[in-house]
Amino acid sequence: MEEKKTFYITTPIYYPNDKLHIGHSYCTVACDCMARYKRMLGYDTYFLTGTDEHGLKIQRSAEAAGVDPQTYVDNIVEGIQKLWKVLEISNNDFIRTTQERHVKTVQKIFRRLYDQGDIYKGSYEGWYCTPCESFWTESQLVDGNCPDCGRPVERAKEECYFLRLSKYQDWILNHFKEHPDFLLPASRANEMVKNFIEPGLEDLCVSRTTFTWGIPVEFDPGHVVYVWVDALTNYITALGWDTEDDSLYQKYWPADIHFVGKDIVRFHTIIWPIILHMLGLPLPKQVLGHGLLNLNGGKMSKSKGNVVDPVQLIERYGVDAIRYYLLREMPFGADGNFTNEALVARINMDLANDLGNLVQRTVAMISKYFDGVMPAPTAPEDVDKALIDEALKLSETYCREMDQMHFSTALAEVFHMISSCNRYIDQTAPWVLAKDPEKKERLGTVLYNLAECIRRVALCLVPVMVNTPAKIFAALGAEGESATWTRMDEWGILPAGVRVTVGAALFPRLDPKAEEEALEALLPKKEETWEIAPAKEEIDIETFGKLDLRVATVAAAEKVKKADKLLQLTLKLGNETRTVVSGIAKAYTPEEMVGRQVILVYNLKPAKLRGIESQGMILCASDPVTGKLSLLAPVDAMHDGAEVS
Ligand code: MSP
Repeated sequence: MEEKKTFYITTPIYYPNDKLHIGHSYCTVACDCMARYKRMLGYDTYFLTGTDEHGLKIQRSAEAAGVDPQTYVDNIVEGIQKLWKVLEISNNDFIRTTQERHVKTVQKIFRRLYDQGDIYKGSYEGWYCTPCESFWTESQLVDGNCPDCGRPVERAKEECYFLRLSKYQDWILNHFKEHPDFLLPASRANEMVKNFIEPGLEDLCVSRTTFTWGIPVEFDPGHVVYVWVDALTNYITALGWDTEDDSLYQKYWPADIHFVGKDIVRFHTIIWPIILHMLGLPLPKQVLGHGLLNLNGGKMSKSKGNVVDPVQLIERYGVDAIRYYLLREMPFGADGNFTNEALVARINMDLANDLGNLVQRTVAMISKYFDGVMPAPTAPEDVDKALIDEALKLSETYCREMDQMHFSTALAEVFHMISSCNRYIDQTAPWVLAKDPEKKERLGTVLYNLAECIRRVALCLVPVMVNTPAKIFAALGAEGESATWTRMDEWGILPAGVRVTVGAALFPRLDPKAEEEALEALLPKKEETWEIAPAKEEIDIETFGKLDLRVATVAAAEKVKKADKLLQLTLKLGNETRTVVSGIAKAYTPEEMVGRQVILVYNLKPAKLRGIESQGMILCASDPVTGKLSLLAPVDAMHDGAEVS
């Protein structure tokens, strides 16, 4: 017997640091759709997801919550698993990086790379972004902040182990050149090469000693493994690589697709392939970098209070509507937008009007004019031929798009077919045919053609929707072979004579106004839900005393060229003037700044920003809900130069 082709697809493993929002669901729903599609086509499919549970961020959150990190993550992981359950995610395994199967293999990998010289001990000094768990060099910072998320970075200096990325720079560059489809969309591949590989790969610090919530380096227990090295290896530890039973690894590796958000493409296409290469293992065949789902134009985040709880959305609209919306609304590779109005509009237009009505009308007419028994078609007329032709082509175009995970365009093809069916009803006017007994055969042909098209549409929806296709098959009386993909290239698989059943509307129409209000009410109340940044390391009074803060008066202000966040300020302190570059241009115009008093960090080492030497920095608060900046200043006017203590 011929062996089935295999297909291995993975989602990123999620940080259990917070509740997941609808944006996070996109990636998992998309992978689930792909996994279901491949299974439908007969592939032996393995779909992995899980959680990435170590790191300073988690340790700090656990401390803030007053629980130990394991209890903290256990709690959140439960919520993540519940979300995947309501979204009916069909993953074959769920890996947690705190599981022994993972921990042991990560330790082995670390040792192996150390023994072969790809990991070596040194000491690190640089910048660390705790929210992103990323190290940055001075030159990579943007306006002194993390280039990925824009948040402040912390200075980090410690003894650590390094991964010898630099040695493999040419090799990875070559891999990109020789495999133009390794990372899609191509624009992202170009970005990796131009922004990260060509400027030079520096060896990466892959152990930490300043916190403990991580996998201990077993031969140097003060060190824990850098969370990204720990996390990335999940794709093989879950398959039992290098264990007694590595049958899953043998069967499924290399992965066919790692599907990841654009923010983590760098880790998956530079660091991960290099680690695999060091281990002598084959690389994943493809990494697809998807865009982010924004809410009303802004990046979705819990701290902005604009997060719609996906479980509530699913309870309200059903899992199929939400899955459809996510897959239809996200263009391949680009960012998508989530708005309540667009969700309701899609449900009403695509699902209730176009799809729901088509099914309802067709089944109701078969029921009324043929006593619920599927009529047999007769020789097609031109109008029928055009419809049948489109229906037969649909599987080809649909598969072409689905194979590349272009879900939005695949669905557009399916809904184009649905529109053609609705137009066919208008063209053939079955209710007119029904009035003439001599046109009974013609009426039967029209209704059969519609039913057969709907059956094919339902098959295309099988990977996307988990309940609706079965409801459509039941309404049409499609069973066995006619409810499977196997004979999709043939027309007329639905047998005449089966009984149709008129059921409830697949997607009841919604009142947009009422939904808007209801969804608004579901949003977490901003005042009650914001979270503040975790506390930084405690300092003593002497350390604080080293800070020299002064009141200064802004004498002049201007925009910094080609930096839309920066203002160049001239500050006056008594007889002294200072130039300071500050990232406040989005909050204050130069005109608004002149004459104001500000608080200056007077003894901060000067740093160059966009070629201008900034002699200190001024203090601002950043609102944890809106992100808005507000300048700090003395409540009463002071002589500038005044000390702040
Ligand atoms: N733990 C890492 C992944 C390690 S994989 C070896 C991580 N976790 S995460 O929870 O922060 O993000 C998981 C995935 O969700 C990422 O691919 C990220 O891009 C994606 N998304 C986060 N916010 C999103 C949107 N608003 N929209 C779409 N995807 C989103 O990164």
